[in-house]
Amino acid sequence: MRKKFIIGNWKMHTTTAEAGRLAKAVVDGVGMEKHVVIAICPPFTCLALVGEILKGSHVSLGAQNLYPEKEGAFTGEISPTMLLDVGCKYVILGHSERRHKLGETDGFINQKVLVALAASLNVILCVGETLDQRKAGQTETVLDRQLVHGLAGLSADTLPRLIVAYEPVWAIGSTGHHAAPPQVQEAHAVIRRRFGQMFGEKAAQSLPIQYGGSVKPDNAAALLSRQGVDGTLLGGASLIADQFMAIVRAGISESRTEEQST
Ligand code: PGA
Repeated sequence: MRKKFIIGNWKMHTTTAEAGRLAKAVVDGVGMEKHVVIAICPPFTCLALVGEILKGSHVSLGAQNLYPEKEGAFTGEISPTMLLDVGCKYVILGHSERRHKLGETDGFINQKVLVALAASLNVILCVGETLDQRKAGQTETVLDRQLVHGLAGLSADTLPRLIVAYEPVWAIGSTGHHAAPPQVQEAHAVIRRRFGQMFGEKAAQSLPIQYGGSVKPDNAAALLSRQGVDGTLLGGASLIADQFMAIVRAGISESRTEEQST
């Protein structure tokens, strides 16, 4: 049985004071919970502080990006070594905001994925189509391209440290659009099938695939109960401790149901 991953992407939010309060509330809320994997990804400026707060807890630290070099003359960038140094276990790569607002290409994302995995970070690779691409019937082609290029050259031994997040661009943030659970299930099946063609059926069955895009306490259970949905990547809801914890609880309850039925 695959574990459920509930991960918060705080994006460009929180001062250090706000981050400290939010991280403490999450740590207190999670307690000794082990049924689901929980991580939070604050902005770079808050990583060290939040890392200290998470020490000894069941909440892991993640970053929202990295630069694919160990060190050097890369003004404004952050290396995998620096992320490990402040206690990061996860890194989000290929988020649509970086693809579409900052022009990151599949090739560049691939370099980041390879370097992050080589540095023994766990990678959350985000993939997903825009509304125009969906309307044009290109969803499968886009997912296919992002997976094939984003994961080129990956060695089998690093696969256990990879998570894929399906994040349809049209459903992220306050777009007014929501992906329906059957649409999510279908896209996850496409991703798992394609991954299986690339890395084999066993690897595909072990791959955690999260869903992200306007997940809130009121739709989390419906999404998490769908076959092949192995967690959620949360933006807005991860900034409000009560909402984040409500979704963690939905993940726990779904994991327990799945445990009982296996
Ligand atoms: P959202 O963001 O939950 O605010 O839609 C999700 C994401 O971008 O990861």
